[in-house]
Amino acid sequence: MSFYGVVRPALFALPAETAHGVGTSVLSVAQGTPVERLARERLRVDDARLATTAFGQSFPNPVGVAAGFDKNAELPGMLAALGFGHVEVGGVTAERQPGNPKPRMFRLRADRAIVNRMGFNNHGADAVGERLAEIRLPDVPVGLNIGKSKSTPLDDAPADYRYTFERCGDRVDYTVVNVSSPNTPGLRELQHRDALEAILGTLLDAGARPLLVKLSPDLPERAVEEALAVVDDLDLDGVIATNTTTSRPSSLRSPERAERGGLSGKPIEHTSTAFVANVARQTDVPVVGVGGVSDAEGAYAKIRAGASVVQLYTALVYEGPTVARKINRGLLELLDRDGFDHVSEAVGVDL
Ligand SMILES: Cc1cc2nc3c(=O)[nH]c(=O)nc-3n(C[C@H](O)[C@H](O)[C@H](O)COP(=O)(O)O)c2cc1C
Repeated sequence: MSFYGVVRPALFALPAETAHGVGTSVLSVAQGTPVERLARERLRVDDARLATTAFGQSFPNPVGVAAGFDKNAELPGMLAALGFGHVEVGGVTAERQPGNPKPRMFRLRADRAIVNRMGFNNHGADAVGERLAEIRLPDVPVGLNIGKSKSTPLDDAPADYRYTFERCGDRVDYTVVNVSSPNTPGLRELQHRDALEAILGTLLDAGARPLLVKLSPDLPERAVEEALAVVDDLDLDGVIATNTTTSRPSSLRSPERAERGGLSGKPIEHTSTAFVANVARQTDVPVVGVGGVSDAEGAYAKIRAGASVVQLYTALVYEGPTVARKINRGLLELLDRDGFDHVSEAVGVDL
């Protein structure tokens, strides 16, 4: 049995957010110590066939950490040492916020899923900006995911996003406008044309490049088209698809499916992959595929559907800290099987 196979029952005996805190504390203690170097040696899959580029960034492999795992930019070094090819920190908001009352994160164990209604709990742009200025950043791209402060009215969202970028944007390699979390009232309305244009335009004026937008899998087709028209008009650098969903597939078995919030993990895998394909068909910009990736087959399916790189969060909870290595090794086998010399050759072949 793997190390995580032994530890996981103990973690799963704790409430989900407490377990997350334990896991991140362990990673934080290990960061910067010989354990980090050891992890890097063991878990990084160094192979030129996996190295890829997208929106001007060089990724050593296509498997990254999705936003929300390291909300306050405390762990990018250690997450890179676990073998991830990029780390997206945040969501950070202009204001420090406590988020929603606990409990607000629920495991749907039988479904290998999570429902969360965290509500952008984070230390705020000033503190995260100071941390980013101080820490040693890893040698993989680090992205900044920005959300809207809860107390800021929707009309004032552009200045709120800009504030966070100005405090935190200096040391990151790309910026993501998150207008797709279901847990901040009204946030997802910002995916509509005028609001989106205003936020993205303000950030571009502030010098945010590369700039990506992260979309909800719950967007109706017309709204997807509108959002992609804005991506085109403003010459954005990429799209992240997808965030969590408020829908509840009928296949869910865990009682926690009744909890309010965004669903992530295995049950959203296929809808998210279909969403990636839909976006990739309609735009020329790189797509970052996220939603239910937990193994090489799933990552490969998103890549074949048009994702240049993929991300995951929920699989870190269920598969543990060796998940990036497992996926990267598996990807090499799949590339071999299908006669691709390089992962970039597989991008979009199913479209
Ligand atoms: C507890 C939790 C917190 C999250 N926080 C954020 C966030 O702050 N910003 C964001 O864009 N996405 C956030 N996400 C969404 C993930 O980045 C990702 O899009 C989603 O979970 C689907 O991927 P997965 O199935 O691999 O988890 C969060 C997800 C979870 C489970």
